[in-house]
Amino acid sequence: MAMSENAPESGMPEFPQRPFRGGEYGKEHDGTYLMNWNPIMLAEDLPQGQVIGKDFLGTRVIVYRQEDGTPVVQSAYCPHMGADLSCGEMVGGQVRCPYHFWKFGPDGQCTEIPEEDTIPGVARIYNYPAAERWGFIWAFNGEEPLYDLPEMPNIAEEDLVYKPFHRGLRPIEGWIGSSNIVDFQHLKTVHGIPDPYPKKVEYSDYLLDVRQESDNRVVDTRLHGCTWMSAHARFADGLERFFMAGGSQVAPGWSDSFFLVALRRSQAEEMGEEAVQEEFQKRIDYMIKLYSEDEPILYSLRFRGYRKSALIRADRYMGEFLRYHDAYPRKAPFDV
Ligand code: FES
Ligand SMILES: [Fe+2]
Repeated sequence: MAMSENAPESGMPEFPQRPFRGGEYGKEHDGTYLMNWNPIMLAEDLPQGQVIGKDFLGTRVIVYRQEDGTPVVQSAYCPHMGADLSCGEMVGGQVRCPYHFWKFGPDGQCTEIPEEDTIPGVARIYNYPAAERWGFIWAFNGEEPLYDLPEMPNIAEEDLVYKPFHRGLRPIEGWIGSSNIVDFQHLKTVHGIPDPYPKKVEYSDYLLDVRQESDNRVVDTRLHGCTWMSAHARFADGLERFFMAGGSQVAPGWSDSFFLVALRRSQAEEMGEEAVQEEFQKRIDYMIKLYSEDEPILYSLRFRGYRKSALIRADRYMGEFLRYHDAYPRKAPFDV
């Protein structure tokens, strides 16, 4: 089965075909998804006055900005007859359905039905908690966020300059790629990191904290909601690397991946704009190298779940992560 048969155009290079359809993958979760913050698009791709559709949680959402710029993420299918509201238009700060012109406000309520005085209570769409941060538009899978938006370890956002990047749609669930954070063997074998083993691996409800320490480097990595990683590495020669990476939950077996690279603001100010852009490009290239090393493996992998994997002693951190992921709260999207 060709990948393109069940994938929207991703612009990604061809990889070995998956042995089974994306729809089969992850079906043990029964239509539920991790309750976490998902970066669903680059903020710069969301102009004022436009409504944009995104595949999310096995269904679709619309994304737009309120008049003050605050992003809104709502279920995309009109409660009337199911038209995709992303094919509609923004009219006076409201989304107008393309089919019969019902209008919906930023709180999801229908505000106007042509030639009708009364608006029934069922005439509403659902709101996902939404935010703009780190150059991305985020949506939380749940009624209320269970935790704050991801931060970089050891430094505040205002002390960084950063560049967000859209890697693209991937035929793999995001949490599998993010499990690299505790797959220390993989960091060594595939990415050639000589000293990956951790000093600390600590789980809390929605966050995983990892510290790696060697003579050459100290790295703090955090994983937010099983899928979004943020990291700060300090090397013996003074080099610092900041990055974030992860993706949104598009559908069973699919994720849309994003990352960002960052520099300490004080360092960037010394370097000047041109050198900063050059440095960003170098760091983006490094991230792309890591992605390219992983993708042929991840896109053809058939992961059979925690209980069916032959985990060994060296995989104890992976085993722990897989149990954590299994127990992590999940929820079906609002409109299914
Ligand atoms: S389907 Fe949206 S108004 Fe009829
Ligand atoms: Fe990797």
